[in-house]
Amino acid sequence: MKKVLIYKRFERFWHWSQATLIIFLGITGFEVHGSLEIFGFEKAVLYHRIAAYLLIALIMFAIFWHITTGEWRQYIPSFKNLRAQIQYYTKGIFKNEPHPTKKTTLSKLNPLQALTYLMFKVVLIPLVVITGLLYMYHRTIDDNNVVVVSDIDLELIAVLHTLGAFLLIAFLIVHVYMTTTGTTPTSNIKAMLTGYEELEEEEKNDE
Ligand code: HEM
Repeated sequence: MKKVLIYKRFERFWHWSQATLIIFLGITGFEVHGSLEIFGFEKAVLYHRIAAYLLIALIMFAIFWHITTGEWRQYIPSFKNLRAQIQYYTKGIFKNEPHPTKKTTLSKLNPLQALTYLMFKVVLIPLVVITGLLYMYHRTIDDNNVVVVSDIDLELIAVLHTLGAFLLIAFLIVHVYMTTTGTTPTSNIKAMLTGYEELEEEEKNDE
C-alpha cells in the first residue's frame, strides 16, 4: 500500500465549492418554489441568482482545468467491467467481496463512476444551468429594449428546472452513500479532503 495523490488541489477546491453551491442553490431554489421558509422569498431569489452566477464561473474554470490537464479522459466511459461493478454494488459488497476494479491515479474512477459523472456533467448540470438561465432571462428587456427569451413557455422551463433540481438531490443522496463504499467507510471522503489515498499500486504524482 502506498499513499498517492489522487485528487489535485484545484479538483478538491472545485468539488467542495460545487457541492456547497449546489446545496445552497437547492435550499434557496426550494424556497423560491415555496417548499421552505428560511431567508424570505425576495432574499432567496437574490441569493439563488448570485449562487447561480458563482456556479457558472466555477464550471468555466473546471472546464478549462479538465481540458488543460487532460483529466477529462478520466470520464470516458468504459463498458468493460461495468456489469461487474453494478453486481459488486448490488450483491458483492454485502458479502465482503473485493472491489472488481483497481483505483490508480491514471484511472481513479470505476466504470460506473465514469459513466455517472459523465452524465452529471453533460446532461444534468447543463439541464439546470440552461433552464436556469432561460428562467432568469425570460421576458427580460435588455439595454437595447429587446426581449431576451420569449418563445419558450415559462411553465415548461420551470418544470424542467425543478426536475433537474430533484435529480440533483437524488444524485447527492446516492453519491454520499457511495462515498462510504471505499476501502473503509471514510477513505473516499478523506481522499477528497486531503487529496491522498492509500492505494495498492505504486504511483508517481505531480501536483
Ligand atoms: C446556474 C445554475 C442555475 C440558474 C441560472 C438558476 C436560475 C433560477 C431562476 C432564475 C429561478 C427562478 C427564480 C428567480 O427568478 O430567481 C430558479 C428557481 C429554482 N431553482 Fe434554480 N438556478 C440554477 C441552479 C439551480 C440548482 C443547482 C438547483 C437545485 C439544486 C436549483 C433549484 C431551483 C428550484 C427548485 C427553483 C424553483 C423552481 C420553481 O418553483 O419554478 N437551481 N432558478
